[in-house]
Amino acid sequence: MKFFVDTADTGEIRELAATGLLDGVTTNPSLVAKSGRKFVDVIKEICAIVDGPVSAEVTATAYDDMVAEGRKLADIAENVCVKVPLTMPGLKACRTLSQAGAKVNVTLCFSAAQALLAAKAGATFISPFVGRLDDVGSDGMNLIADIVQIYANYPALTTEVLVASVRHPVHVIEAAKMGAHVATLPPAVLRQLFNHPLTDKGLAAFLADWAKTGQSIL
Ligand code: E4P
Repeated sequence: MKFFVDTADTGEIRELAATGLLDGVTTNPSLVAKSGRKFVDVIKEICAIVDGPVSAEVTATAYDDMVAEGRKLADIAENVCVKVPLTMPGLKACRTLSQAGAKVNVTLCFSAAQALLAAKAGATFISPFVGRLDDVGSDGMNLIADIVQIYANYPALTTEVLVASVRHPVHVIEAAKMGAHVATLPPAVLRQLFNHPLTDKGLAAFLADWAKTGQSIL
């Protein structure tokens, strides 16, 4: 499973990329606004930090404008993945941009029918938002299971399931069990994946015993 980080904070991205375990980055207009930086500058910097896909979202809502913005974003760097919303003009733009060779992430997906259309439109990634579905009393992980199953029925489809709006490590584990290709995680959730209290406790005990020996490896 690939791990993306869902942030426009380049400090966080740099630290997480240094682990060698980061496969890409997703941003959205809210995350860019939170960074307080110019959109193009921040995307350019992120693309230089990570080799994998960096999602940069269009903000137009009409087809022509989305395509124009998408082309501009795709020109920033080779690893830019243009993000478009799951609307009719968005899917039309997805088709145009993907046919022109751009990578496209279709975002704000809340149903399996939408995911099927995105795949048909040539999306590189489909982003179902599990946390936001949970927030309104639906089961976000059911949607992931449905999309993974549906895509598997059509092996010619190359669209990858990118689990988005992830709130906690259980979402990640459930998504991996279902065979989702990617999860994009807020930095705090990505850091949580590394931790277990028994690891900390066990390490403390090993180090205390080691100190008693008076030895050093180097
Ligand atoms: C995905 O690409 C989105 O940026 C993100 O996962 C949205 O998450 P949120 O529901 O926590 O805002």
